[in-house]
Amino acid sequence: THKIILDCDPGVDDAVAILLALASPAEIEVVGITTVAGNRPLEQTQYNARRICTLADRGDIPVYAGCGRPMIEAQGRSAPIHGSDGLGDVPFPEPKLPLQDLHGVDFIIRTVSEAPGEITLCPIGPMTNIALAIVKQPDIAPKIKQIVFMGGAAFCPGNVSPVAEFNLFFDPWAARIVLDAGIPQVMFGLDVTHQAKTSGPFLDDLRQSGPLPSTVSAMIQRYGTGDRCLHDPCVIAWLIDPSLFDGVSGRVRVNCQDDGLRGQTLVTLASGHPGDASPNIQVMTQVDNPRFLALLAERLKRL
Ligand code: BDR
Ligand code: CA
Repeated sequence: THKIILDCDPGVDDAVAILLALASPAEIEVVGITTVAGNRPLEQTQYNARRICTLADRGDIPVYAGCGRPMIEAQGRSAPIHGSDGLGDVPFPEPKLPLQDLHGVDFIIRTVSEAPGEITLCPIGPMTNIALAIVKQPDIAPKIKQIVFMGGAAFCPGNVSPVAEFNLFFDPWAARIVLDAGIPQVMFGLDVTHQAKTSGPFLDDLRQSGPLPSTVSAMIQRYGTGDRCLHDPCVIAWLIDPSLFDGVSGRVRVNCQDDGLRGQTLVTLASGHPGDASPNIQVMTQVDNPRFLALLAERLKRL
């Protein structure tokens, strides 16, 4: 069982990732959820995380608020595709669980310190919380088992600029800190997540499968445009069944210049040449979308 901290900015696809994790106790133990400013301001993302846990009847999950802005800039910009409340403006129960007092960054530090080598961090929003945890207490870096994240666009166009993906564009400096921290990582960038499209039959099936799946279906209907990609759930699906995905290994650097290339991920593939820096990241490039959707539907129907 993977012990994870889900670091998120819900966000429709974040919400689906949370639900997929909660529906998969044999493979995943959600130790806590930390929230960050991203798709929406922190006030809204922590509230949304608690609404999602309440929907899944999981009042036992501790939810923490982390950073309310990116590292360098005073303000980030939100993503309009998630509706005005970040969850597609569909009806949700009010949260039945409290917001924890501890700061999200301190929760990450404490949890990793207490269980060295055991915790997988899953950032599916801007990486501000993870970066700040590493900056505040650098000795946690070697104690983190792995970081499995959604962000970047290695071999394909971006979604907020010609080259940049939202999470890394929002806080490129945080991503730089995390990517350079010497921690084993798996990257789910747009290369792979753009293949994780939903379909009409998938949404119809969920709509007819009881209250929670039908709420998820409604939320996804109101999300984005066109193919409605489930970016963030890829991270969780990989932990459940890595055979759904394929990728390459290499090193990744993030552009932090405030120029047209801000947030771009630059990948150096492992070449086998002498002088290669050893690869530290698995860059995912492929998903078997029919099997991915089948897994999601099967799990969501459990809730
Ligand atoms: C990422 O940006 C957000 O809008 C989504 O939640 C996902 O984490 C995709 O670029
Ligand atoms: Ca997200």
